[in-house]
Amino acid sequence: MSTPPDDPGRPDGAVAPATRSPARSGPDVSFGLGFDFDRAFDRAGTGSSKWARSADGVVPMGLADMDLPGPPAVAGALEQRARHRAYGYTVCDPAGRALVARWYRERHGVVVDPAWVLLLPFGPRTAVRLLLEAVRPLGPVLFPTPEWAGFAQLCLAAGLPYEEVPLARDATGYRLPVAAFGGRRAGAVLLSSPHNPSGRVWHEAEIRALAEAAAGAGAVLVSDEVHGDLTHPGRRHPVAVAVAGPHRERTVTLNSVGKTFNASGIPSCFALVPDAALRERLVAVMAGYGLWEGGLVEQVVQQAALRHGGPWLDALLAHLAGARDRLTGLLGEAVRSAPEASYLLWVDAAALGLPPAGARAALLERCGLDASDGADFGPGGHGSLRLNYALPEPVLVTVLERLARLPRRAG
Ligand SMILES: Cc1ncc(COP(=O)(O)O)c(C=O)c1O
Repeated sequence: MSTPPDDPGRPDGAVAPATRSPARSGPDVSFGLGFDFDRAFDRAGTGSSKWARSADGVVPMGLADMDLPGPPAVAGALEQRARHRAYGYTVCDPAGRALVARWYRERHGVVVDPAWVLLLPFGPRTAVRLLLEAVRPLGPVLFPTPEWAGFAQLCLAAGLPYEEVPLARDATGYRLPVAAFGGRRAGAVLLSSPHNPSGRVWHEAEIRALAEAAAGAGAVLVSDEVHGDLTHPGRRHPVAVAVAGPHRERTVTLNSVGKTFNASGIPSCFALVPDAALRERLVAVMAGYGLWEGGLVEQVVQQAALRHGGPWLDALLAHLAGARDRLTGLLGEAVRSAPEASYLLWVDAAALGLPPAGARAALLERCGLDASDGADFGPGGHGSLRLNYALPEPVLVTVLERLARLPRRAG
């Protein structure tokens, strides 16, 4: 078997055959821990932000991380690296870029040039902010609403003018209002793809049309795809830099092993930036904040996850799809957009008999479930709640029982 041109190799010198999941074959990296999503997973004492804010007996279903154990390979790699007490400054290992390219080829069937990859030592929120600084938008920043409660906040913090464009709808849920982005000037278009809060996977044609509209408006399209690897079985995630066609150089894709592999407490992400000049500007912006590619801990996490995390991710996606089916079966028409990715359910509060203005408090009081308030997701979020269902089986059962107490009517 020959080594693919961008294959980063492995510490043990073995080469993975090209399967959909880079980690499906190869050494035993289970470290004896297994992928058990059916048993309770106690986060007590771990400093979990979600649980620290939660009263006894309440199930926190807000913040977008998972109450599920992460890949054993990541734990093993961290443990192994921590044992060597060299914790000084690090360089960026080019193997990381090649691993990203291999991940896209094998997982998404997409060709990514390793030269496009920037391995960033901070989370996706910071990445969007610094990308905007590097893009230097000459017009307003546009994005659909509702959105993940970040884009508006980041524009406000950066002092950039922005406009929120209401999403369109069809029979199954949200659609991108592409026409509203065309025929005007803009500095940047931001997209959450797949969509947080609804879990909608945008169609390839919609993304291509949006890239075209953005280019026509003189804008760079920044596609935040941190939920892209969490696209449910049977769906395909269109990667913006791969589907933008002639507008690829004006398109950026952002992704994060933190989201995919439930390691957001170790901030990292990566960007695919085909335009070399924009890449250089981003690196210069980062340098201005004392940030550089390839921090110690995030490289360990990223490489372990991308090398060995595929089987864990496949098991996770099967678990999430099962949870999705049970929840959508129970909540029916209250679900605003059929979830096709990630672990987020976007529901119409009124359809569950909850007062649209105080829905979060009412759900907490009636069911002991703490959701995210739709109003935090921009003007398109009023009257909605976002429920995070990345839960182990016993907690999921509790949530289903509690939600069954609510009245339901057609939305
Ligand atoms: C779509 C999307 N983008 C960005 C972020 C921000 O991630 P972080 O706060 O880890 O930087 C999140 C977090 O939930 C998200 O869902």
